Amino acid sequence: MREAKWKDYELIDASKGERLERWGDIILIRPDPQIIWDTPRTNPLWKNAHARYHRSTSGGGQWEAYKKIPDVWKINYNNIVFQIKPMGFKHTGVFPEQAINWDFVSEKIKGSDKQLNVLNLFAYTGGATLACANAGAKVCHVDASKGMVQWAKENAMVSHLGDKPVRWLVDDCIKFVQREARRGNKYDGIIMDPPSYGRGPGGEVWKLEEQLFSLVKLCTTVLSDNPQFFILNSYTTGLSPAVMEYLLGVTLKSQFGGAVSSDEIGLRATDTGMVLPCGSTAIWQS
Ligand SMILES: C[S@@+](CC[C@H](N)C(=O)[O-])C[C@H]1O[C@@H](n2cnc3c(N)ncnc32)[C@H](O)[C@@H]1O
Repeated sequence: MREAKWKDYELIDASKGERLERWGDIILIRPDPQIIWDTPRTNPLWKNAHARYHRSTSGGGQWEAYKKIPDVWKINYNNIVFQIKPMGFKHTGVFPEQAINWDFVSEKIKGSDKQLNVLNLFAYTGGATLACANAGAKVCHVDASKGMVQWAKENAMVSHLGDKPVRWLVDDCIKFVQREARRGNKYDGIIMDPPSYGRGPGGEVWKLEEQLFSLVKLCTTVLSDNPQFFILNSYTTGLSPAVMEYLLGVTLKSQFGGAVSSDEIGLRATDTGMVLPCGSTAIWQS
């Protein structure tokens, strides 16, 4: 399993349906249904966390604060700064397991002899966008949520990447790629981390199982003549690494050659050494 290496984030322990995590100096406890093992919670931080997210039986949930925490605080990953906020659906504004993919794209961009043009779809708070911009790429960042795009722009500002060539777009990913194809715009690399279900800004429905294949196919029409990478990530239960690898294989390899690989990605718990799976990534590269 591929795993990211952080200083400002730490999965400390995982037990009885919950994660014990450190975000900078703030300790949070969040639910994770995968953690079905009932291991002893020996770490004293389990009883000394700042806040815990409780899932409600009606679908949503809420944070319970045990100590005063700031509304927003910052954590770093290499040169990238993220603003962290405890939000609905147990979100904090970062999926830390993605850092391994940010490292991959950074290496690709730095290793290229020309400036790469990268498309980041379902781009959330901009982790991949900022990694690409920091490495020297031009980036097009697309997300349906105005609030998320604003958050990503603020992350760019606090990361001192506000002057980098990034186009920030609030749009439906499918509609945007269709338009880019009509305009003849091309990208050397594409990154996507689609949710299992989502909505575009105009209410467009996104259902991963029904639309992922056609979106990946559509994306091949906006790749340049010499594309460098295509990263497909998913945390949807049921979409195995092999399925995602085949998906990239059948859409990209026949046209562009290259190679596809896939693996689970995860976070290593410091107390136990176990790597908690957090989804899968398939990577096509030339
Ligand atoms: C959970 S995030 C992906 C994680 C992110 N890439 C990361 O690594 O941090 C999914 C994002 O997809 C966006 N989204 C959902 N449906 C969409 C659509 N139809 N078009 C564009 N963005 C969409 C959401 O607003 C959300 O920000």
